[in-house]
Amino acid sequence: MTVADKVRVAVIGAGGMANYVHYPALASLPDVQIAAICDLDEGRLHTTADKYGVARRYTDYRRMVDEVTPAAVYAIGQPHIMFDVWVWCLQQGLPLYIEKPLGITLHQAHLLAHLAAEHKCITQVSFQRRSCPLVVQLYNECRRRGPLVHAECAFYKCEPQPYLHARDHMMDDGVHAIDTLRWLCGGEISGVESRCKRVGTPDINFIAALLHFDNGATGVLLNSWTSGRRIFKVEMHAPGICAEAEHERAGWLYADGDTQGVRFDTRTVAGSDELYVYGGFQAKHCEFIDAIKAGTQPSSHFGDALKTMEIAETILAQALLNR
Ligand SMILES: NC(=O)c1ccc[n+]([C@@H]2O[C@H](COP(=O)([O-])OP(=O)(O)OC[C@H]3O[C@@H](n4cnc5c(N)ncnc54)[C@H](O)[C@@H]3O)[C@@H](O)[C@H]2O)c1
Repeated sequence: MTVADKVRVAVIGAGGMANYVHYPALASLPDVQIAAICDLDEGRLHTTADKYGVARRYTDYRRMVDEVTPAAVYAIGQPHIMFDVWVWCLQQGLPLYIEKPLGITLHQAHLLAHLAAEHKCITQVSFQRRSCPLVVQLYNECRRRGPLVHAECAFYKCEPQPYLHARDHMMDDGVHAIDTLRWLCGGEISGVESRCKRVGTPDINFIAALLHFDNGATGVLLNSWTSGRRIFKVEMHAPGICAEAEHERAGWLYADGDTQGVRFDTRTVAGSDELYVYGGFQAKHCEFIDAIKAGTQPSSHFGDALKTMEIAETILAQALLNR
């Protein structure tokens, strides 16, 4: 593939998550060229650009877009800081890939989805737990027997202190669990029953919810930041078959009453020891780049991510009303 055939992307943000998974994922795709990088912090800008051999470096993202005319923009950073950047990119009609959450309020999420639709932008929110190779394989095995009857998603962390960030635990982590359940269960949400708690903190750090879907599936959500360690795990159940998995470790598939199960290692299934591959980030980027080429929307476009935000806000609203 010649350089001219590659999708030229410009990246805003050279921070922690971007360097951890997004730059490695983009650099691994043969049909992508990182054409330019922008960061306000010149140290991070040059360190990252040097690492990936990117010559065009900017501290002003508007100037970068004007001069580089990229086919797509990645804007990776804290949502309360990146909101204005995202709005500007959408107003230019640019394809845009961002990290979750889709803003930190429902107002922001609605505006972002509205602008994306108005300017016909191809968009993606990085809900990569839908695209982890291990979990996709287990999901496909279960779906061979029919639609899922119920799914569970637990997200635990050992962070018992107050969460001193602009976004709350729901927007930081809860949205991942909600989005994963939406993907596993399919259908549209038809009801939410929830209970939240503040365990030794001023902010909500425990969320339990039942998500009812219009196709009859039920999602069970359990999130706690006052647990003993970090765990992200799912269960999925279809008639006569079920699977359980930790995205970043391993999964088991059980069918027809078998209690031994078949074990799948996440790195083996993905064919890589790199988190950006087995964690699902590379596949999420592939989906976005393919969508740009095809002129279609990937699965986590802003209109879809808005549905995840609406469920998150419904749970928080129930917490307020049920106090
Ligand atoms: N998908 C996941 O599993 C997952 C996991 C952890 C974090 N995240 C998400 O990642 C995001 C944080 O990303 P990060 O760790 O790379 O953030 P970061 O804060 O480490 O880096 C952001 C960078 O953007 C730069 N920046 C800010 N405003 C800018 C502007 N106007 N122009 C140019 N550069 C600008 C900053 O200088 C900084 O270097 C959050 O949204 C978080 O929710 C996702």
